[in-house]
Amino acid sequence: MKKKLIIGVSVAAITAMALTGCSSSRSGGSSSSDSIPKGSTIGVSLPAKTSQNWVLAKAAFESALKADGFKADVQYAAATNTVPDQQSQISAMIQKGDKALIIAAQDGAQLGTQVKQAKAAGIPVIAWDRNITGTKNVDYYVAFNNYKVGQLQGQALLDGMKARKSSGPYDIELFAGASTDANAPVFFDGAMSVLEPKIKDGTLKVLSGQTTFAQVNTAGWLAQNAQTRMSNLLQKTYSGNEELDGVLSPNDTLGRAIIQAIQQDHKTVPIVTGQDSETASIPLIMNGTQYSTIYKNTNEEANAAVKLVKTLSDGKKPATVIDKKNNYNGVKTVPAIELTPVLITKENAVKEYANNPTLEALAKAGAK
Ligand code: BGC
Repeated sequence: MKKKLIIGVSVAAITAMALTGCSSSRSGGSSSSDSIPKGSTIGVSLPAKTSQNWVLAKAAFESALKADGFKADVQYAAATNTVPDQQSQISAMIQKGDKALIIAAQDGAQLGTQVKQAKAAGIPVIAWDRNITGTKNVDYYVAFNNYKVGQLQGQALLDGMKARKSSGPYDIELFAGASTDANAPVFFDGAMSVLEPKIKDGTLKVLSGQTTFAQVNTAGWLAQNAQTRMSNLLQKTYSGNEELDGVLSPNDTLGRAIIQAIQQDHKTVPIVTGQDSETASIPLIMNGTQYSTIYKNTNEEANAAVKLVKTLSDGKKPATVIDKKNNYNGVKTVPAIELTPVLITKENAVKEYANNPTLEALAKAGAK
């Protein structure tokens, strides 16, 4: 009994530390931290450009690495043969002698061999934005709090529907990202932590009956796949008087595809969520077509990874959090630097984008 209590307390304490995000851990870091000489080349391996955040990442890394005196070797995985392409690029980075690797995985489960090679060569591995799974050979993870992203999306869906129609029940459909991306189930779990109790108490109804990640994921995060699924749902489930009140979309690219499918079916666009603050979605948010997005500043995320490289290069231990819910990769909870995502609707867009001239201008133009 006594033993149980102690375990209970420590788990709660760890969870609290993880949630507040202000704890620091001195364990789990790379043993090869002193092997990043000043001015060395850092490999940054990015996935295919399935959303705008990846497009922005290249310039963000090049400028952040330059500012800290490193040389940048930034590469994308090709749109086709993406996984083998990223695998061979990472192996080539190791062979060339890049001194640290920052990796955003196309398929988080397919890089075990490459990160093992990195470990053998004494090269620290930082998973960036997407975790690398099924391996102990990933040293750090830098990302926005993905579970929190999902929670914000779930809450936005509820708030948006309530603002339109003061009481339920509300008919909704659910979409998730790619099963090959370790983030996608975490976003979905975060959203479902908000939505599931409301499904159980009858406030929300999912008329298709598709509520599990296995049923609602979107292969490759591809817009076409979400658009096709939405069209099929409309034909099968909403061809009568049923009214769709909301759609949980995990990002903006898929949100716009879902909206397009609904518009093609001549239906009123329901509350649709998103993520990434893509330039194509801001006007839609400002004119009320898309309800919400999430702001994850790509520069901030790249800077955090580069600061970590700099800290290791200086021979210091970085401050990290141990957050199992977000950062467990199936083998270990990867010590992480977690950034805070921000929910955006047309109410706060101008204010929250104040540090980003492109997004601020779009929000201001839409607010007129
Ligand atoms: C990223 C999202 C992005 C998605 C699709 C995820 O891993 O965290 O920002 O929308 O991939 O590219």
